[in-house]
Amino acid sequence: LAASNFIADLPKLELHLHIEGTLEPELMFELAGRNGVPLPWPDVASLRAAYDFDCLQSFLDLYYRGASVLVTEQDFFDLTWAYLEHCATDKVRHVEIFFDPQTHTARGIPFATVLGGIERALQAGEETFGISWRLVMSFLRHLSEEEAFATLREAEPFLSRIHGIGLDSGEKGNPPGKFARVYAHCRELGLPVVAHAGEEGPAEYIWQAIRELEVCRIDHGVRAADDPELLRYLADTRLPLTVCPLSNTRLKVFDQMAHHNVLRLLEQGLCVTINSDDPAYFGGYMNANFQALADELGATASQLGRLSLNAVEASWLSLADKARLT
Ligand code: HPA
Ligand code: ZN
Repeated sequence: LAASNFIADLPKLELHLHIEGTLEPELMFELAGRNGVPLPWPDVASLRAAYDFDCLQSFLDLYYRGASVLVTEQDFFDLTWAYLEHCATDKVRHVEIFFDPQTHTARGIPFATVLGGIERALQAGEETFGISWRLVMSFLRHLSEEEAFATLREAEPFLSRIHGIGLDSGEKGNPPGKFARVYAHCRELGLPVVAHAGEEGPAEYIWQAIRELEVCRIDHGVRAADDPELLRYLADTRLPLTVCPLSNTRLKVFDQMAHHNVLRLLEQGLCVTINSDDPAYFGGYMNANFQALADELGATASQLGRLSLNAVEASWLSLADKARLT
């Protein structure tokens, strides 16, 4: 799998992607200029040099600062369109992407501006590249549950255009249970729910996401490896984990790719999938994540094919559309 046509040709689905995390440095500077937003870095090279993270929070500080250049609907369109071009290159056939409305509405950007720009690009991407899509509204877990409720109220006129709910941002000290009531409300609205858990936080947070939030997928979830009972539960139920290998090494969840546990989880029967998380910040899009597993974990073609099939199983596509992709 060295110079890999297999990976390039493998149809893929991406289920764990923050659209704000696809903001490449060049576009960040272009939008900063267009909108007159000051940035603390003099140029693209010094911004890239700052991508030397030692944990999730050190990344988040930079990621929220970068997102401040996104102002107009066209900005959100340009951001999302650039991501979809990468998807087309990497043979990604379907995407289920997160957006963080609170990152923008807190700066006075209207909800409709954010949603409108992202959605218009997704529609254009479906027409141009045939990439199907779902949109997942994520709550920031470092904020309060009351603020999540306020965001949900703000999203109410748009809920027919939102396909699910997620939970992201700093995990430590912000357990899933903090959002149990707002998640119950989202489920009553008929929205499927997912949550980041077990990235930096303990396996116990994964149990909380399952028991208190009733999630249909766990984002990351690699710390499940610390809890044999949880591993058995995940293998038995096939509750999916959306794993992000390059993200995990960049944020020091694993000190090097050779120590990543995703292939062990796969061989233990879990429904693990491969995703890029915040590819502009973590060094690569979908093919790069698959390639890292081949290069540094010795993943076989069979394993990579199963990881891709797991994503079909884990997706929110209809059975008919799943059949079309397999
Ligand atoms: N973890 C938590 N929150 C995030 C991430 C992540 O990897 N990316 C963007 N927000
Ligand atoms: Zn994430």
